[in-house]
Amino acid sequence: MQSVNDIRSSFLGFFEKNGHEAVASSPLVPRNDPTLMFTNAGMVQFKNVFTGLEKRPYNRATTAQKCVRAGGKHNDLDNVGFTARHHTFFEMLGNFSFGDYFKDEAITLAWDLLTKEWGLPKDKLTATIYEDDDEAMELWKKIAGLPEDRIVRLGAKSNFWQMGDTGPCGPCSEIFYDHGDKYWGGPPGTPEEDGDRFVEIWNLVFMQFEQLPDGSRVKLPKPSVDTGSGLERVAAVMQGTNNNYEIDLFRALIDSAAQVTGVSLKGLDEGGLASLRVVADHLRSMSFLIAEGVLPSNEGRGYVLRRIMRRAMRHATLLGSNEPAIHRIVPTLVREMGQAYPELVRGEQMIEETVRLEEQRFLKTLGRGLAILEDATKELGKGDMLDGVTAFKLYDTYGFPLDLTQDALRLRDIHVDLSGFEDAMARQRAEARKSWAGSGEAGEDKVWFAVADKVGPTEFLGYETETAEGVVTALIRGGQMVEALNEGEEGFVVLNQTPFYGESGGQVGDTGTLTGEGAGAEVLDTVK
Ligand code: ALA
Repeated sequence: MQSVNDIRSSFLGFFEKNGHEAVASSPLVPRNDPTLMFTNAGMVQFKNVFTGLEKRPYNRATTAQKCVRAGGKHNDLDNVGFTARHHTFFEMLGNFSFGDYFKDEAITLAWDLLTKEWGLPKDKLTATIYEDDDEAMELWKKIAGLPEDRIVRLGAKSNFWQMGDTGPCGPCSEIFYDHGDKYWGGPPGTPEEDGDRFVEIWNLVFMQFEQLPDGSRVKLPKPSVDTGSGLERVAAVMQGTNNNYEIDLFRALIDSAAQVTGVSLKGLDEGGLASLRVVADHLRSMSFLIAEGVLPSNEGRGYVLRRIMRRAMRHATLLGSNEPAIHRIVPTLVREMGQAYPELVRGEQMIEETVRLEEQRFLKTLGRGLAILEDATKELGKGDMLDGVTAFKLYDTYGFPLDLTQDALRLRDIHVDLSGFEDAMARQRAEARKSWAGSGEAGEDKVWFAVADKVGPTEFLGYETETAEGVVTALIRGGQMVEALNEGEEGFVVLNQTPFYGESGGQVGDTGTLTGEGAGAEVLDTVK
């Protein structure tokens, strides 16, 4: 059997042999894209290379990229554990051409790797193409010898790939694997396509355009290639299962999760199995995020991390574990993935400690919170709604992120009154504002409430990097929000993320420089 580690190496090795530079995964917190919460595709680190803004010493590259899809646009958090293929953390294998080869060679390379190197049977593979891409149709026929009925034309929704509202994009061609008729499902483009039988294993994007903020689309300097293949799905295919949670890596994590929570896999019901899968999946995202310096907190990325951690912890208690347990799975993860990702080895102790502390913190209130939830919902039935005030109290006093409360009620088909929750939150904010004494310069201080309401928190990136891109979210001068700071003026600049450490009692704030298109500023001080 080829292990996940073997498959990753063999993918990268194949592309290296074919003239590609093996480039390390970029961090999960993107340095070059201040609008993205987490890296969610292999091409993110190459975004500016495609558009011509950045030059690299190679024009072919291959990577195994760490990705997180939780929070932000691509959010898979709710589904994890209950389906065969959803993850909060996954690895995307990819090969890239920056103005070098295009469709012809991209298809040839993918086909050769799948059918020659890995020996997948041709008759199990189906391709999709963008609806009017006749060139791709001819290439699939010529290179792969696929009959026309196994090359499916699909519209922009599935076969035009865009990284977000802006950025490089282009038509794409996906490769599907048929797991056989013991699974329900149909080929792409049929009403049964969402079944578990036909699974997309590779997406070849023919990058040709850049989508601009004003809605227009311009041509890239040169046609390029971006591909993405989910390592966990490929491993499932190669290991003869159609469930990602049954591959060697997940088996090891799930065994370890069962051991530390004290359950036996034999005879475990569906719910118990789902909980083990949640714990195994979430352990990966929390460990990789912590290894990069993201810490659980109440804002931004740190809050997404906290939600992931607490969701895992609740599932550990559902399995019957009432002691901190999840941190004890970390060594298994480091053993399985540390060779490919040395940051796990370097960060092992810190990861374990951070997870353990969060477990201790949350377990203190989890039991009482669950009791309150139980009490508040005991009269409720299918389709009923939990009031927003109780949901807010669970959030505010017992540390239950809203989605944890929703998750806990999902099986009973009870929903949460979201607008009631928002109202309770707004009332609490107003109270805080009223009781704020300020530092004496009341006029100057008040503006910060308005700023916080308008733009939200600033993410701190300084544990990991001393330079980063950010978006200016507000400018303040003389106690007022202003549209611009002009040459020679002094004021406050608020950013959506920053590597500058802000003074908050004790350590002094960082100084440095800000640069932007046609603008620059000296940073005299940073305050929180
Ligand atoms: N960037 C493409 C994707 O994420 C390959 O599917």
